Amino acid sequence: MIRGTPHLIALLLLAALAILLVAFTWSVPPVAMPQFARVASDKVEPAEPLSPLPQTIPTPDLERAQLGERLFHELRLSGDDSVACASCHSLEQGGADGRARSVGAGGALGEVNAPSVFNAALGFAQFWDGRAATLAEQIDGPLHNPVEMASDWPRVLTTLSADEAYRTAFAALYPDGITKANIVDALVRYQLTLVTPNAPFDRYLRGERDAIDAAAREGYARFKDYGCASCHQGALVGGNMFQRFGIMGDYFVDRGQLEDVDLGRYRVTGREEDRYVFKVPSLRNVALTAPYFHDGSVETLDEAVEIMARYQLGRDLQAEDIALIVAFLNTLTGDAPNIGRSLPLP
Ligand code: HEC
Ligand code: HEC
Repeated sequence: MIRGTPHLIALLLLAALAILLVAFTWSVPPVAMPQFARVASDKVEPAEPLSPLPQTIPTPDLERAQLGERLFHELRLSGDDSVACASCHSLEQGGADGRARSVGAGGALGEVNAPSVFNAALGFAQFWDGRAATLAEQIDGPLHNPVEMASDWPRVLTTLSADEAYRTAFAALYPDGITKANIVDALVRYQLTLVTPNAPFDRYLRGERDAIDAAAREGYARFKDYGCASCHQGALVGGNMFQRFGIMGDYFVDRGQLEDVDLGRYRVTGREEDRYVFKVPSLRNVALTAPYFHDGSVETLDEAVEIMARYQLGRDLQAEDIALIVAFLNTLTGDAPNIGRSLPLP
């Protein structure tokens, strides 16, 4: 009897505990279930590092943008009437010029590869080294650059003011007519229309699974897995941070012939940690904008991807990896820019 009592007490206690446990589980509010399910599915599908380009937003400033379009193609903005913005940022060549380095006024050879003006408005800074913050600030650069337009504002104002058509057009759209601020405004408004939405990849991100084929889908998975998306991210697949070119190896030593422009942001800030640091370029429409890198040294996307993997991620990619990633990059080509649509002024 005496020996059996503790057993009985233990048994009773256990039974009580079991009842309590069951009762507790039963009383857990059903709302806990969906919460649990959400956490589980988040693990399977992490948030996408890339997002679609914004859909078009019409602005009421079409006429100013159209004036900007004319200015963008105006050879007389340059010092010797030989180059326009469009000479180096051609609408037929993905907003760039297809050359390793641009040819400016008087046939002068530029320092760096011309980036695309398509979607440039969405970038967090302008130029490879980010030295201009906005499109408006950017325009002074090519206009004065001796190897680009080799011009200046007094010259531009005199030339345009001598042209009856420009005088009329500016007077109709701006109360104070032809001024530097108004020329910049029109050029910026035009560039805000140079957006390229609805790439197959954007349609895929919006839920149209078959908008890109299996190879491109696998390429995108590897682009994320290998870490490309840690730098090339957001709506531009780039254009939102600065990074060193050559994190896992010395690209410049291997390439040879170091030039001043290779210093990147160091030339802007003078800070040692900015040596060889560049804006991570957007990969939108990248299939159209060979050659690649700020030095225009690479002709094909295959080679650009291989170099990125080696110097940015310390990986030697197999030919299959490269082909799949390039298949993905090929899906980033959007609709051609259309002056009828534009982004709101920043
Ligand atoms: C002679 C060729 C040439 C001409 C003409 C030219 N550009 Fe450029 N553009 C370039 C080059 C090269 C760069 C890159 C310069 C750098 O990063 O240092 C560039 C950069 C830019 C960028 C920055 C894009 C980015 O992603 O960083 C914009 C925007 C731009 N140009 C617009 C214009 C406009 C507007 C005009 C006319 C007023 C113009 N360009 C005239 C060659 C040219
Ligand atoms: C650590 C950041 C970082 C990582 C990771 C990275 N990139 Fe880049 N990428 C850059 C920078 C910076 C540049 C510009 C280099 C230059 O020309 O100065 C660039 C340039 C490029 C270009 C050339 C674009 C042009 O218009 O010239 C391509 C293509 C590219 N990257 C693809 C990739 C791919 C694919 C991967 C993954 C295998 C990758 N990148 C990983 C930072 C990165």
